[in-house]
Amino acid sequence: MKLLLRNGRVLCPASRLDRVLDVLIDDGKISALGPRIKAPGVRVFNAARLVVAPGFIDLHVHLREPGQEHKETIETGARAAARGGFTTVCCMANTAPVNDSPDVTRFILGRARSAAVNVLPIASVSRGLRGEELNDLTGLSAAGAVGFSDDGRAVASSRLMRLALEETKRLSAFVVEHCEDDALSAGGVMNEGALSRRLGLKGIPAAAEEIIAARDIILAGLTGGRLHLAHVSARGTVALLREARRRKLRVTAEATPHHLLLTDAACASRDPAFKVNPPLRGRADVRALLGAVREGLIDVFVTDHAPHAEDEKRLGFEQAPFGINGLETAVPLLLDRLVRRKVISLSRLVRMMSTTPARLLGLKGKGVLRPGADADLTLLDLDARTVVDIRSFASKSRNSPFDGWKLRGAPVAALVGGRVAFPFDGLLPGESA
Ligand code: DOR
Repeated sequence: MKLLLRNGRVLCPASRLDRVLDVLIDDGKISALGPRIKAPGVRVFNAARLVVAPGFIDLHVHLREPGQEHKETIETGARAAARGGFTTVCCMANTAPVNDSPDVTRFILGRARSAAVNVLPIASVSRGLRGEELNDLTGLSAAGAVGFSDDGRAVASSRLMRLALEETKRLSAFVVEHCEDDALSAGGVMNEGALSRRLGLKGIPAAAEEIIAARDIILAGLTGGRLHLAHVSARGTVALLREARRRKLRVTAEATPHHLLLTDAACASRDPAFKVNPPLRGRADVRALLGAVREGLIDVFVTDHAPHAEDEKRLGFEQAPFGINGLETAVPLLLDRLVRRKVISLSRLVRMMSTTPARLLGLKGKGVLRPGADADLTLLDLDARTVVDIRSFASKSRNSPFDGWKLRGAPVAALVGGRVAFPFDGLLPGESA
């Protein structure tokens, strides 16, 4: 099917474009980019005043299938992704069963075939996430795993982490590390500090993150393997990243909107919507993390979309599971709080949400707008005013700390392989038919 997007602001860091252009889509690919493209008989959409960006990619989501379909399924998670402006998501391995075998990887890819967006599985590093036995990373990679992670916990053994990093060199994959020293964090429910002591809640010290980040950066140096630090939250981790960058190690990092926009002060309400792992940190940490984004030490934004059922989150702050629902709020939050407030440019946001994640995943034809590339597109309206409403989520779960936030700037459409994945009725905004 052919489609012409007319007069959008085409913004693509990879091809150094930021101009008002037409985009012609044919058979799932971009077939032409240019001013006033003539294509008689083609469906035309007026994209004037909209930004047309290469499709956004989220390297870090939890879709809960197989095993916890009451929280989310691949289908509902993918719909939430499309509504949030994403065209590709990578789903973590902490499902039930764990994605530690080619069979589970293939099951996920089978379900992904009918999903609204591209879903790429990240398999676990260790069997059953137990940190004892290394999976067959070659077999998992052949089955379609795009990376490896024991996310939800760190790879427990240094020896296993070393082996996994060595394997990544052969497989052109990466290890995504959830940096948390269990022995220090066990039993903790929020950031360790003055507030956790005042509230009488057990804390998780920043050191729990920093120790594993330091260990793994040392192992990245030892092996030459590719390490990606998940959801960085602590000031000390930023300093470690800076040093890794100085040494030119193959270390990249991600940050979430919630760690950039909220502090542990929010936990004073004991509202489980603010309970997440790693925990919301103190003001100095948030300042350092924002500085790291500006400095380029943080390579990508991710959501760490972690849906949980309402009754589970209602258990109270100490009992409720860790996790924040992120897919439908991330882009509006980052547009409003980072781009509109000039912490970063719009072009930097697009680079961090599309160009760079596509490069980290080695996805040819994604993260770029040029003839021949996949027609995965995210359309943004920088002036759209929205109010976060958890009841309107396409996700099965509602656990967001951002309910009621008024934001300016939002995704208005997502095209996946030339198909309109969002809006769900298939009409693009500004349709001129
Ligand atoms: O808050 C979190 N929730 N952090 C994690 O690392 C795992 C995730 C989950 O799976 O719920």
